[in-house]
Amino acid sequence: MGRVAIVTGGTRGIGRAISEALHASGYDVAANYAGNSEAASKFSAETGISTYKWDVADYDACQAGVDQIVAEKGPVDIVVNNAGITRDGTLMRMTRQQWDEVIDTNLGSCFNMAHAVFPSMREREFGRIVNIGSINGQAGQYGQVNYAAAKSGIHGFTKALAQEGARYNITVNAIAPGYIDTDMVAAVPANVLEKIVAKVPVGRLGHAEEIARGVLFLVADNATFVTGSTVSINGGQHMY
Ligand code: CAA
Repeated sequence: MGRVAIVTGGTRGIGRAISEALHASGYDVAANYAGNSEAASKFSAETGISTYKWDVADYDACQAGVDQIVAEKGPVDIVVNNAGITRDGTLMRMTRQQWDEVIDTNLGSCFNMAHAVFPSMREREFGRIVNIGSINGQAGQYGQVNYAAAKSGIHGFTKALAQEGARYNITVNAIAPGYIDTDMVAAVPANVLEKIVAKVPVGRLGHAEEIARGVLFLVADNATFVTGSTVSINGGQHMY
């Protein structure tokens, strides 16, 4: 078996495409999920990828999840922090709970997962951490102060941790997807989405597989000189 890779939120949407691309390239993938165990079993049966259920916003659950994966597959070489949620609404309508849920799930999870794997990566002098940010963390987005703050935080987290990992051959990079044809984007009101897509030079939503290609590039054994970078994959919507 190849290197061990954890993909958080790895059974649906962009995460699913990442899990499948890594699996097809010979990585030993552990796909984390938070929700529906029945759907996860179906995913495992279809793909041959093992799944692990825990809430990435929960620090202790992340430690326990990583411990279980290490016991079953061996030390973790790669983490893709992909799990994320939206709780959109203008600031005036947003509740403190909507703020906390998005910050804890999208950004807190990056700390929780990195904390769980970093000591072993340092010891073994190999690690690849890829954090999934967002165009909306780079450019902001009406109705998303929580999500934009969390994703922007991911970009800062990435650059800081890249500096700490560099001397141990641990690279830390981010991908900033644009609007991708997943359930998350399908939840945006149709009239709003139409206006957003009209501003994408490529003229369409992206596909999850187009993000997975970026992950494969960043986690490669020989991607040793790429760290602290943000790869924007957004159809030209925001050139940053
Ligand atoms: N800029 C300026 N004004 C805007 C605006 C914008 N981008 N969007 C809406 N407004 C204005 C509207 O014109 C409207 O003004 P009037 O009252 O004067 O007509 C006012 O704001 C209220 O707009 P809505 O009717 O849309 O308000 P709402 O409360 O019903 O909904 C919202 C607000 C929930 C934020 C809704 O607009 C929405 O869902 N927007 C999409 C947010 C979005 O893009 N989310 C991305 C999700 S996918 C994702 O996050 C993945 C990723 O990484 C890319």
